[in-house]
Amino acid sequence: MRMYDLIKKKRDGLVLTDEEIRSFVFGYRDGTVPDYQAAAMCMAIYFRGMNADETASLTFAIRDSGEKLSFPNIDGLRVDKHSTGGVGDKTSLVVAPIVASLGCKVAKMSGRGLGHTGGTVDKLESIEGMRVEMDTDEFERIVNETGICIVGQTQSLAPADKKLYALRDVTATVDSMPLIVSSIMGKKLAADDDCIVLDVKTGSGSFMKTVEDSTRLAEMMVDIGKKAGKKTLALITDMDVPLGYAIGNSLEVIEAVDTLNGHGPSDLTEVCLTLASRMLHLAGHGTKKECEDAAREAISSGKALEALVKMVKAQGGNEKWILDTSLFPKAPFRLDVLSPADGYVTRVDTEGYGVASLLLGAGRNTKDDTIDYSAGIMLAKKTGDAVRRGDVIATLYASDEAKLAAAEKKLLSSTEFGPAAPEARPLILNEVE
Ligand code: URA
Repeated sequence: MRMYDLIKKKRDGLVLTDEEIRSFVFGYRDGTVPDYQAAAMCMAIYFRGMNADETASLTFAIRDSGEKLSFPNIDGLRVDKHSTGGVGDKTSLVVAPIVASLGCKVAKMSGRGLGHTGGTVDKLESIEGMRVEMDTDEFERIVNETGICIVGQTQSLAPADKKLYALRDVTATVDSMPLIVSSIMGKKLAADDDCIVLDVKTGSGSFMKTVEDSTRLAEMMVDIGKKAGKKTLALITDMDVPLGYAIGNSLEVIEAVDTLNGHGPSDLTEVCLTLASRMLHLAGHGTKKECEDAAREAISSGKALEALVKMVKAQGGNEKWILDTSLFPKAPFRLDVLSPADGYVTRVDTEGYGVASLLLGAGRNTKDDTIDYSAGIMLAKKTGDAVRRGDVIATLYASDEAKLAAAEKKLLSSTEFGPAAPEARPLILNEVE
């Protein structure tokens, strides 16, 4: 099967067969399909889309591109959550310890940053000593001992996605429904969790900009999950505004720890409690309301924070940084961004904020870029807040002073001001089960 013909077929809007899709996915995994042809195919899929059968074929091909994991030595139900990606989305760092502290097992494989969005693995690596790669024996042992272990995607899990994910990140082909569905569900099915909660982000900072598109994405993923015999549920949550105030790796870890200490931002806390309650509910811990109460109690009792501390220690990280977040290194350069107007912040282009954070060094522009863990943005004002001209709306952090000006320009051009406060939008916009 010539890759050229498959690209041309998709480019012309025709439907690819299961065999053709598998040939593309396995060929790319094996290196017989080069990056440039895979990039062209992703772009053709981006523009032409895929029908439900093609999307399912792509998902199963990604799942089958590597080993199907099983963790026979982990006791109890394995529960996972996966976000479609957002800005300031540090929910995994809060939610996983909550549910682990309540008896679920979270054996989690997380991603790195993608496009303008951050990734849990990059955030974890901002903690001194933290290891996100280990063999299965150690992974199982840590999950059994602490209830939770978060690692990067192993070489053997859905290796085709690992390559495609990195390729899409640098070829502007992330925000495509079939590519997102197959990437997320291919990995989730290969990891063989018992219960999967999907956090489908919607709005200017997510890959899906409207609630309708996000709901369609959620339905496709829930459908594939259920067909594969997994308990699957999706929440559509707001990403029109960054979640919390911190954007950037160590800044986000600090905010997640604050949230586990009970004094996190209210939007982040609400989304985390809702996600945790759905994970507990799918795992049979009670009604959604009972599970939310239990999640709240896990924070107020300190049990959830304790679970994170244990996990960090078990993964070689310096747990003192979690107990005292002032130990995280600070970026040497900072710049306050000032409001140019009186009135209200009426809208932000959250993707633009993600890009500003990338410009500061918190993400990658090419596959091989290294990350500056202390770089990022602390917001002081968010959509709906009143501002006066000259007020600080955000503080930028970087290790390279030269990066501050471009990020400031991007942040300001991504922020709209007006005379009246905009209507508030709910944080949880829909649920698909
Ligand atoms: N997360 C993933 O794992 N894949 C995507 O395509 C988007 C978000």
